[in-house]
Amino acid sequence: MTEEQEESIDLDAKLDEMLLNMRLPDPSELQARIDAIATSDDLGEFHKDHLGRGSVIAKELKNLGKLPDEQRKEAGRRIHAVRQDLQRRIDARQEAISIQEKAGQIAAEGIDVTLDSRHYSIGSLHLIQQVIDEVSDIFIGLGYKVADGPEAELAWYNFDALNTPKDHPGRLESDTMYLDYGDPADEMLLRAHTSPVQARYMEAHEPPVYIVVPGKCYRNDTVDASHLPVFYQIEGLAVDSGIQFSDLKGTLAEFARQFLGPRTEVRLRPHYFPFTEPSAEMDATCPSCEGANTSCRVCGGSGWLELLGCGMVDPNVFDAVGYNPADVTGFAFGAGVERLAMVRYGIEDMRHFVDNDLRFLAQFPG
Ligand code: DAH
Repeated sequence: MTEEQEESIDLDAKLDEMLLNMRLPDPSELQARIDAIATSDDLGEFHKDHLGRGSVIAKELKNLGKLPDEQRKEAGRRIHAVRQDLQRRIDARQEAISIQEKAGQIAAEGIDVTLDSRHYSIGSLHLIQQVIDEVSDIFIGLGYKVADGPEAELAWYNFDALNTPKDHPGRLESDTMYLDYGDPADEMLLRAHTSPVQARYMEAHEPPVYIVVPGKCYRNDTVDASHLPVFYQIEGLAVDSGIQFSDLKGTLAEFARQFLGPRTEVRLRPHYFPFTEPSAEMDATCPSCEGANTSCRVCGGSGWLELLGCGMVDPNVFDAVGYNPADVTGFAFGAGVERLAMVRYGIEDMRHFVDNDLRFLAQFPG
């Protein structure tokens, strides 16, 4: 044996002895104790005892400095291995304990996550308002503006400006709700239609005019399936140079297609209105049966639905508002909003709109 060999055996022996003397714990033997720990606090104590400053491992780490170089390396490796092993076991236990503690905390705070949340029912626009919005949108898409006017109206705007003869039955107290009746100079009433806004708007604006006017109207009617004393109309007015009857028909046919469906066709029946000449009523093909059902609930089997009144603006109306009938022509129309809603949705009784029965209203959430 050479001297060198002798020295190395000597070193190995010393190292073995040193390692034997190290009182390092065996982490696998501590596992059962770790498993038995139930709280983070206790596990913290355990950590302090075995890895903290006063722990055996910490002491052995300190002792490393006293060892000769050759031994320090191996001893350091062992200590770190034990430390890491133990730390890993403690970490794993901490994770399990944390989950349990969180569950315990949730249970203790008494939050029952299976409890249904409160439901607040959200209202919706009334079907009449929905139809007003939809019709307005269609005409806005055609370049029209939305205008409005007063519900308490001068008889002059409701009748005279609109070329209504003095002996028109609508002027009777039995038909129209007057606020002030008797002296023709300042008679006031609740407007019987939205048409007075035609005159008010033209008085205040130069042509061209393209407006729709949704609004509330009043008539001395008895409530039944097709009449309400308070109801809604939507008025339309187009005034420009060179407007013709074909413009009226094209515009209203486009409206009918957008409102009732692309296959809708329209027909015009001659009629009389004081403020238009010629005047007509416009019917649309029934979107429900398309003419195929002789007992259709919506159109009554005729295949046609009456939608609105319309016509070319009477020159006398232009005169009344200060427009020159030689410069402009125009068309106007007026539709009952309840009627539009009824034909569109197959509603058979106008009273549903004012009954405030949620079973009815909730069918039209918009
Ligand atoms: N104002 C009419 C009514 O209440 C409806 C109407 C018909 C309006 C023809 C118009 C129109 O503008 O041109 O019965």
